[in-house]
Amino acid sequence: MFKVLICDPLSEEGLKPLRENPTSQVDVLTNLSKEELLDKVGNYDALLVRSQTTIDAAVIHAATRLKIIGRAGVGVDNIDLQAATEQGILVVNAPDGNTNSAAEHSIAMLMALARNIPQAFHALKNKQWDRKSFIGVELKGKTLGVIGLGRIGAEVAQRAKGQRMKVVAYDPFLTLEKAEKLGVTMGTVDEVIQVADFITVHTPLVKETKHLLNRAAFEKMKPGVQLINCARGGIIDEDALYDAIQSGKVAGVALDVFEVEPFVDHKLLTLPQVIATPHLGASTVEAQEVVAVDVCDDVVRYFNGQAVKNP
Ligand code: NAD
Ligand code: MLT
Repeated sequence: MFKVLICDPLSEEGLKPLRENPTSQVDVLTNLSKEELLDKVGNYDALLVRSQTTIDAAVIHAATRLKIIGRAGVGVDNIDLQAATEQGILVVNAPDGNTNSAAEHSIAMLMALARNIPQAFHALKNKQWDRKSFIGVELKGKTLGVIGLGRIGAEVAQRAKGQRMKVVAYDPFLTLEKAEKLGVTMGTVDEVIQVADFITVHTPLVKETKHLLNRAAFEKMKPGVQLINCARGGIIDEDALYDAIQSGKVAGVALDVFEVEPFVDHKLLTLPQVIATPHLGASTVEAQEVVAVDVCDDVVRYFNGQAVKNP
């Protein structure tokens, strides 16, 4: 019998592989405080999370019988991978299950940004029929700069081409062959941000991408540039972004992710140029089911002595 602790809400449909497995016991305990998690985690062989729960070194050290951590999503930046590895704990994720949803959300944000849809809706809800304040811009013929042309970035690039946008991209790990196949022009980060009317980021948050879009980068961008971040808070320097909006350099921003999440108050949300969602990129019925199935499958495979699919 192996015991599984689920700390973040996961799709019940997606938990079937675990629930139907005769040798697993599943406990769903969401909203645990850090102290409660530290107290309970030592009783479990497997731990499943989304992005809310932080699995830091203290949690890992307390997890004396833990063998596997499953992240129902892409980013593993809420898990201390080094501490897990040192303790011999395997970490698996679900890299493909939410690609489509995150790409669709990025495009939804791009279009909402270009046409001021959230601001206009807000005005209308406040009983203002205002057609002058919300003049937008067309996407057709504009250049979209994609930073990080992996699974989601590539899907976004293809959809943007469907909007008749030109797409330029920066990704130091991408082969020119793949870029050619996608019909995307590659450049350095500076080349991309200098020509783009809209910039969307789709990299992991790692040392090299932390504040990749910072004060120096904003200076190189076109006046009136608009930005989208549906990847990770911290890729864009929020303080520098605030100043770039205030100065008029950046005309609009759509954010799904933030440097600190969750929050109750954020200075960027005081600016009318900023539209935002609370980390909803992967929040669709379809994506949540697939990511939960994928990590649960891997946990079952691990305890059955089979190779996992997404280490
Ligand atoms: P991916 O691994 O398929 O793609 C990431 C790409 O970034 C890769 O092509 C990689 O080569 C590139 N990259 C790495 N370092 C880079 C650097 N220094 N500069 C430029 N490019 C670099 O990942 P993905 O599935 O496309 O996910 C992208 C991001 O979106 C991740 O941060 C993930 O956590 C996040 N995400 C967010 C949501 C959400 O709910 N908002 C949902 C899914 C994924
Ligand atoms: C991810 O990295 O997959 C996203 O943050 C989606 C999520 O789990 O909410």
